[in-house]
Amino acid sequence: MMEKDVFEPVQLGDLTLANRMVMAPMTRNRADAQGVVTPMMVTYYRQRASAGLIITESVPVSPEAIGYPLTPGIYTEQQVAGWVRLTDAVHAAGGKIFVQLQHCGRISHPSLQPDNATPVAPTPLRPEGQVYTYTGKHDYVTPRELEISEIPKLVAQFKHAAEMARHAGFDGVEVHGANGYIIDQFLRDGSNRRTDAYGGSVQNRMRLLNEVLDAVGTVWPAQRIGVRLTPENRFNSMSDSNPQTHFSYFVEQLSPRGLAYLHVLEGDMTIKDSEVDYRALRSKYSGSYIANNGYDLARAQTAVRSGNADLVAFGTPFLANPDLVRRYREGLPLNEADRTTFYQGGEAGYIDYSFYSGEQA
Ligand SMILES: Cc1cc2nc3c(=O)[nH]c(=O)nc-3n(C[C@H](O)[C@H](O)[C@H](O)COP(=O)(O)O)c2cc1C
Repeated sequence: MMEKDVFEPVQLGDLTLANRMVMAPMTRNRADAQGVVTPMMVTYYRQRASAGLIITESVPVSPEAIGYPLTPGIYTEQQVAGWVRLTDAVHAAGGKIFVQLQHCGRISHPSLQPDNATPVAPTPLRPEGQVYTYTGKHDYVTPRELEISEIPKLVAQFKHAAEMARHAGFDGVEVHGANGYIIDQFLRDGSNRRTDAYGGSVQNRMRLLNEVLDAVGTVWPAQRIGVRLTPENRFNSMSDSNPQTHFSYFVEQLSPRGLAYLHVLEGDMTIKDSEVDYRALRSKYSGSYIANNGYDLARAQTAVRSGNADLVAFGTPFLANPDLVRRYREGLPLNEADRTTFYQGGEAGYIDYSFYSGEQA
């Protein structure tokens, strides 16, 4: 039997991907003030189209979903027109692209909200730290508890964005259930203290994700819908009392849906420890599994060959190396990512990372 290899084509639902290397979603704050894709964004994603699959940066599903300045939205016609230019460019370059649908929930600020509204969350618990706004950094505020009667509107926003994603020419959508945004705020018990049908038990905490998937599933076939989860990432003041048990339940429930994939950020982005057994978690899921967090080529090959992952998502390596697939395949040296330009806007540190040219630095 042929050994599996990250550079080999792979089937993801009805899509054939050129390889098992996924570009992880990365917010870069390079849209315009209306949340419309800019020309440099088209260049950035086209440059990275040799990834088997690109997952876009987080894309707010509504004005209320916004949590950061200059993030591209997917709820107006103007925004859709911008995305069409971007998905066309990626497809012309031979790539495939899913859009990551996001609602930030409490990871926002009144100045980023329509009518200076207080951001919403499952429970009024203020995240630690500061939020970037158009007027500099501010402390997070205590969010307003989302009324149960408001949840259908939230779900409808995901559905609307999913419809817009079809018009925008995406190959599929990734529901952002990770990294401390609203769906994750419901999933994990550190941020969800509700006593109604959306809090308490794992069944209740998963209700919002299930409703969002059902709604998005009326627009897209299941095999074009992915889900991203972060059982352990502490980013955005997140915690859970028993991630192994709780996420085993979530993953078991997702498994029969026949989704395109389950995408898991394994461990924590900054603290490199892990209490969760991801092989055990993966074994609960029958479909395609995308592993992420700190993978290099060697770890990715091991994960794919052992069956621990079907695909591997790379974040910072793709950010700094538009031709990451070629560099890994040919054993070429990598560019280093410059953290100072991650979110600063502009073309520097965005579209000027070099393709390998043959000269050694
Ligand atoms: C600049 C930057 C922006 C990110 N933005 C997002 C995002 O919008 N959505 C998301 O799910 N993860 C986001 N992440 C997390 C990455 O998708 C990925 O999980 C993380 O970088 C770990 O993978 P890596 O070790 O290959 O970089 C971001 C990471 C970075 C470095």
